[in-house]
Order: sequence, then structure tokens, then C-alpha cells
Amino acid sequence: MAKYLVTGGAGFIGSHIVEELRARGENIVILDNFYSGKPENLAAGADALPDWYREKAAAANVFDLVTWSQGNVTCIKGDIRDYRACVKACHGVDYVLHQGALRSVPKSMDDPYSYNAVNIDGTLNLLRAARECGAKRFVFASSSSVYGDTDQFPQKETAYPLLISPYALSKLTGEYYCRIFAVNYGLETVALRYFNVFGPRQALDDEYAVVIPKFITCILNGEQPPIFGNGKQSRDFSFVKNVVKANLAAAVQPKVGGEVFNVACGRDNSVLQLVEFLNEFAGTQIEPKFLPVRLGDVFKTHADITKLSALLNAAPDYDFKQGLKITFEWFKQKYAAGR
Ligand SMILES: NC(=O)c1ccc[n+]([C@@H]2O[C@H](COP(=O)([O-])OP(=O)(O)OC[C@H]3O[C@@H](n4cnc5c(N)ncnc54)[C@H](O)[C@@H]3O)[C@@H](O)[C@H]2O)c1
Repeated sequence: MAKYLVTGGAGFIGSHIVEELRARGENIVILDNFYSGKPENLAAGADALPDWYREKAAAANVFDLVTWSQGNVTCIKGDIRDYRACVKACHGVDYVLHQGALRSVPKSMDDPYSYNAVNIDGTLNLLRAARECGAKRFVFASSSSVYGDTDQFPQKETAYPLLISPYALSKLTGEYYCRIFAVNYGLETVALRYFNVFGPRQALDDEYAVVIPKFITCILNGEQPPIFGNGKQSRDFSFVKNVVKANLAAAVQPKVGGEVFNVACGRDNSVLQLVEFLNEFAGTQIEPKFLPVRLGDVFKTHADITKLSALLNAAPDYDFKQGLKITFEWFKQKYAAGR
């Protein structure tokens, strides 16, 4: 069996990747500092982390390493800003699936330095460590935000980036570092530009909560979902299982080293449409409330996924409405259980 390192494996997307790798019987190393990742996310894909580990990890200083292994899963509490942690995590690994990052566009407007440190320096640390440890492939979680404020649709990987946030800059820099390692140092890299990912386990924990879990919770609570702008802004929303599929394909698909791929459904839905679907699932008719537009938000995303299907062989399995229904039911169950 191959050995995969999933950074950010306790996070939303990372934990879904871990779950699928576990189901396939692969060897897995998780590197996460539990900044936004949660130990309970791993219960779905690995054995639940024992209490002693949770307590030790929670009490550890920022660059302390705390390791737990059972069967074919190892979890390291460590920080990608720490090169030593990256080398430890990359040891003996075949494929690196690098999800660990700070992920909020609006938060990056308030705190760009942290985004530089984690998303750029951290990615560079990990690329160096992966190369030093002889990894076969490095898959990087990039973002549709690199397209920025464009009016050219559908967005193609070759488009000129018109970034408007520090988060987007950190992701584009990560992509270029991947390319530099691919061209100069013989490390095969693949960058995946995720378009608004959603699904079960997505966090809903602060003022920067992302739109789908936020709106589902509003509808379940009988509250008006808050829309920044007029609601006509649209997104090419991607169900998380499609993103897992793209990652696993990007690790092993031949002849894609150095490439960049959009990961999306290939069509956009407006935020008003999202509210309509959720009302349909819930059997409600709750109107949204409209707030001023936020800095750093783009008006539309809509991916060209020709390359994803043709070269990576990873066309999406779930369309937006199918994924949304699964996600809605998951939150409804969680809500009913009072969690
Ligand atoms: N969710 C989306 O819509 C979306 C869209 C585009 C790109 N992405 C990218 O996908 C990846 C995963 O995003 P997510 O939505 O699962 O977010 P998430 O916050 O749930 O996961 C990120 C994980 O990285 C970990 N992490 C953060 N800083 C770290 C550090 N210094 N060292 C080690 N681990 C650290 C967090 O604890 C968390 O577990 C990120 O790289 C994000 O930028 C996400």
C-alpha cells in the first residue's frame, strides 16, 4: 500500500480525504496543528483520537510535536511553519496532499501576515521536505480565488490572474512554488484550484463562516440567511466528494506533473438559488436579509472543467443540488442531535 501525507487532515476537506484513503486501506500520515481542524473530524476516517492525545495536543506549545499511531494511521500535531515538523511528516511518504492552510478570504484582508506565514512559508517548508524525503508527487490545494475579479467566463487555467485578496495571493504563490519545484528540483507537483467547496463537517464557527453551512443553519433555525450584496452573485459550488476524487487522481495520474487544474462542477448557481434550494429541502419560505458587499469577495465564479475531465480523469460525480441535499441532511441530523 502507498503512504499518503494529508496536511490539514483534521480539517473539513482533509478529513474527507483521510476517510476515503482509510476506506481504501492506504497508509496515512496526518499533519495538523488543530487551528481550525478538529479531532472529532478524524473519527469519521480514522479511529477517534484517544483522550490523552487530545489533551496533550491541546496543551502543547505552538511548535511542539505530538504523535499518535494506530494501525495504518499516524497523526502528528505539528505546524507547517516548522520545517522539522514537515520533515517528520514527509518521512517515507509517497504522496503529499497539502490541504493545511488558513482559508478565509475576508480574514486574510484583516491579517495578511499570518496568511503569508502559513500559506506561503508553510507550503515552501513542505515542498522542501517532500523533495528531501523523496516523495513521488505533491498535490497542492489552491483556490479559484486566484482568478480574482475577472469578467471572462468560464474561467480557464490559462487566464491571467486578477487577484484581489491576500488569501488569493498566498495560493497563487503556492502554485508558483510548486512549479518551481517541478521544473528545477524534480518533484512532481499538481495544483488543484478548488471552487467553493461544501459538504458535511464544514465548520460553522466564527464570523467568517462560509455561506453553505451558515445558510443551512439559518434555515434550520427559522432565521433569515444574510446575503452580502443583492444575491445575484454566483459560485461554481463543489461538493467535497468531487474534491476528494480530484486529489486522489492528482496523486497517481501519469503525465500531469507541473499542471494546474480547476476542480468544480462547470456551472454556477446564484446565492439566491442556494436559498431557494434550501427552502425547498426544508419545506420553508424564509426570505434572505441583504447586507453590504464585503471586501475581497468576487461577483462570480464559473470554471471550465475540460482539463479536469480530459487530463486528470476526475469529472465530478455529484452536481450542486445532489451535494447540497446530502449536506443539508447531514446538518439537519447534527442539529436534531443538538450538536
Ligand atoms: N473550503 C473551500 O471552499 C476551499 C476553496 C478553495 C481552496 N481551499 C483550500 O483547501 C484546503 C482545505 O480547506 P478546508 O476548507 O478544509 O479548511 P479547514 O480550515 O477546515 O482545514 C485547514 C486545515 O489546516 C490546518 N492548519 C491551519 N494552519 C496550519 C498550520 N500552520 N500547520 C498545520 N496545519 C494547519 C487546520 O487546523 C485545518 O485542519 C485549504 O488549503 C484551503 O485554502 C478550500
